[in-house]
Amino acid sequence: MPTLDLPFIRSHFPAFAEPSLEGQAFFDNAGGSYACQEVIDRLNRFYRQNKMQPYGVHPASRRGGEEMDRAHREMASYLNVAPEEVHLGPSSSQNSYVLAEAFANRLDAGDEVIVTNQDHEANNGVWRRLIKRGIVIKEWQVNATTGSLDSAALVELLTSRTKVVAFTHCSNILGEINPVREICEIVHGVGAVAVVDGVSYAGHGLPDVAELGADVYLFSLYKTFGPHLGAMVIRRPLMDFLGNQAHYFNAAHLAKWFVPAGPDHAQVAAVNGVTAYFDSVHAHHFPEADNSERGANLRKLFKQAEVGLLSPLLEFCAKDPRVRLLGPTNAQKKAATVSLQTLNATPREVCERLVSKGIIAGAGHFYAVRLLEALGINPDEGVLRLSFVHYTSQEEVQQLIRALDESL
Ligand SMILES: Cc1ncc(COP(=O)(O)O)c(C=O)c1O
Repeated sequence: MPTLDLPFIRSHFPAFAEPSLEGQAFFDNAGGSYACQEVIDRLNRFYRQNKMQPYGVHPASRRGGEEMDRAHREMASYLNVAPEEVHLGPSSSQNSYVLAEAFANRLDAGDEVIVTNQDHEANNGVWRRLIKRGIVIKEWQVNATTGSLDSAALVELLTSRTKVVAFTHCSNILGEINPVREICEIVHGVGAVAVVDGVSYAGHGLPDVAELGADVYLFSLYKTFGPHLGAMVIRRPLMDFLGNQAHYFNAAHLAKWFVPAGPDHAQVAAVNGVTAYFDSVHAHHFPEADNSERGANLRKLFKQAEVGLLSPLLEFCAKDPRVRLLGPTNAQKKAATVSLQTLNATPREVCERLVSKGIIAGAGHFYAVRLLEALGINPDEGVLRLSFVHYTSQEEVQQLIRALDESL
């Protein structure tokens, strides 16, 4: 396994060369990552050259449409699904709203949907509100100490009326990576579909959705170095069952089915920048490898880099009496998202002290209100969240640990 070439990686992110951000270590990546140069270039180019209704007769309009189609193809190839199964909408919250509405029109009163209290509200509230349509909502609850989900508890909730199980690949608070494949197999065992929120996972490497077995997989491109869009994969048999949610006369355009809001054309085209960035990282680190191995190679490369950075941070947090560290303490089991209940000052106060020491971090409930309540944490105060990705450096992590030590 090659080692991540950090100067090469960071040269793809203009934010690292931005004078106004000099000396600022970025630890709020779970909120949104820096955008890579490839994305910024494509956005810029689209706005200058193709900013008109796409798929028209003029070559500039036609090229715009071609770029958008390519975005579906390239992203689908990384995710190991078909291009028409990738739906690019305004955000994951908007995508899940449309999805739940589509289900509402296909489910019968008395059918059951299982949600968790570990998820971000985007894969939660949209399902719970179906109660008004006669759907029975059950909650798969976390362990109140660890915040983890136990598959055995899910099995207890499943019945022949279970139609949907909505859960997360990775909690945006705990960073814990759930065994998606194993859970999907359990869900499929009763003929239900698995709706997986991958928003907190995808920034650490795009998943192989086919291998995971998810029927729906959601993630946000602005947390994967791209534009502010949400990607929603809906696998083919399910997509046909749910049907077109957009204007009736657009039924022939599969890319429009689950995006009734209409997409931002330039941003859709700029999704090609995300895959171009990943392609360039792959070619640089794995010059001999086959394209079909891109996704898996990059996941391993990023994981190796992130575990090396995460371990010292977890070690520091696990033994500091001024914090309660949430989620696994083993770096292998989690994404690089570290949340702390701060015991001597509010998360917001600590966050402000960190800012004065050149650290960009986050404080709050991060829309995981139900999880914080289950863990006995006041959501109004929330947690301090420190999150990073593969482009973060060892020096920045050391800067963070020093600043934390002085701020807690
Ligand atoms: C785990 C998780 N799911 C869903 C969302 C919602 O994504 P979006 O902002 O694209 O609606 C977020 C956003 O922070 C998130 O962290």
